[in-house]
Amino acid sequence: MPKQNLIAAFLLSLSLSSNAARATDLEVLHWWTSGSEAEALGELKKMLKNKTDYQWKDFSVVGGGGQNALKVLKSRVLAGKMPAAVQLKGPAIQEWGKYLTRMDSIANEEKWTSMIPASVAGGMQVEGHWTAVPVNVHRVNWVWMHAGLFKKLGATMPQSIDELFALAERAQKEGIRPFAHGGEPWQDMTAFEEILLASQGPEFFQQFAQLKPEALQSDKLKHTFDWMRRYSDLLPKNRKGMSWDKASKEVIEGKALMQFMGDWAKGEITMAGKTPGVDVLCLAMPGSGQAFIYNVDSFAFFDTQSDVTKKGQLKLASLILSREFQEPFNKKKGSIPARVDLDMKGFDSCAQASMETFRKGTLLPSIAHHMALPSKQVTAIQDLVSEHLNSRMTSEEAMRKLKAAINASR
Ligand code: BGC
Repeated sequence: MPKQNLIAAFLLSLSLSSNAARATDLEVLHWWTSGSEAEALGELKKMLKNKTDYQWKDFSVVGGGGQNALKVLKSRVLAGKMPAAVQLKGPAIQEWGKYLTRMDSIANEEKWTSMIPASVAGGMQVEGHWTAVPVNVHRVNWVWMHAGLFKKLGATMPQSIDELFALAERAQKEGIRPFAHGGEPWQDMTAFEEILLASQGPEFFQQFAQLKPEALQSDKLKHTFDWMRRYSDLLPKNRKGMSWDKASKEVIEGKALMQFMGDWAKGEITMAGKTPGVDVLCLAMPGSGQAFIYNVDSFAFFDTQSDVTKKGQLKLASLILSREFQEPFNKKKGSIPARVDLDMKGFDSCAQASMETFRKGTLLPSIAHHMALPSKQVTAIQDLVSEHLNSRMTSEEAMRKLKAAINASR
């Protein structure tokens, strides 16, 4: 063999052997970029590295609530560059269903149906096929309250939304900032659904979440906007563009008394070395104690021609559901596990209370966090709620505009 050919053959064999040794990339699109979110996700990255031949390729998109990530996902799909895995939830799983990898084989093998609660499992399937895996269950209707400031006020724990706002107004008078609240529309929408539930009850919440015409026209909706105005009058002025975790930090550091936020805020509390339920109190939005607005995070996988990638997708799905992952992840994330068979003893008291209500309470799908409606409709409602909160729009005008926006988004 001529010398040049020998060299070429040698180089080829080198590249083949290094390829064989190199792990295959699994690209994962997600929006978990706050301190606690990234730390929790780190558990999955670590497991993928230690337990498989695959390598995590991070594709993170900043923006709590995930709307930015979903926009990026659309443009990637249009460009034909689907990531191997994507954080996807609620009705979006159905919307993307036909592009997603079916996971029935591994689901049967690992008996997913017996370990995932039925209330969660339904949303993970498209036309009876497993197409997504749940990571956790978040509860949205929480109030996070700085224990020291609460004590300083010498107040009793509010039992109704009226008492909660009376406490907030008293704090304001005594020079304590009542609420931490950032400057993104999805945060406004989160507060809206908490206030709607606490002030008007679970039945009305359901009707609103289904966009029933009678709900959109009701006095109950007008009263909800009235409450939102009272809330906006108690908010700090300089919050434009502020992320949710910065707002949580204000409560953690005692710069503000309360935050209306789902229990991903608890992830930030734990990460700051504070004890949820002790240093920062978790109270179910008063008046909504038996109700549980759920927000289930999940991952789905884009169907691929590559058998190697497909194998990796199934491995990742299996890791996500494993006990070894579910426990440390959910402790860091602030949520409760998506499996029914995990011992909650090692979790903090807020997580234990959350699990108790999840098992026995009234489950309501989060509108703000894309569990109830297609994203187009969520955006229409959210934009209006945000416009109302950040202007002097009357409740009547908000109702008129909301109806028009919803009709336009159908
Ligand atoms: C997600 C949470 C996340 C939060 C803030 C929610 O929609 O479900 O997992 O922590 O947004 O980014």
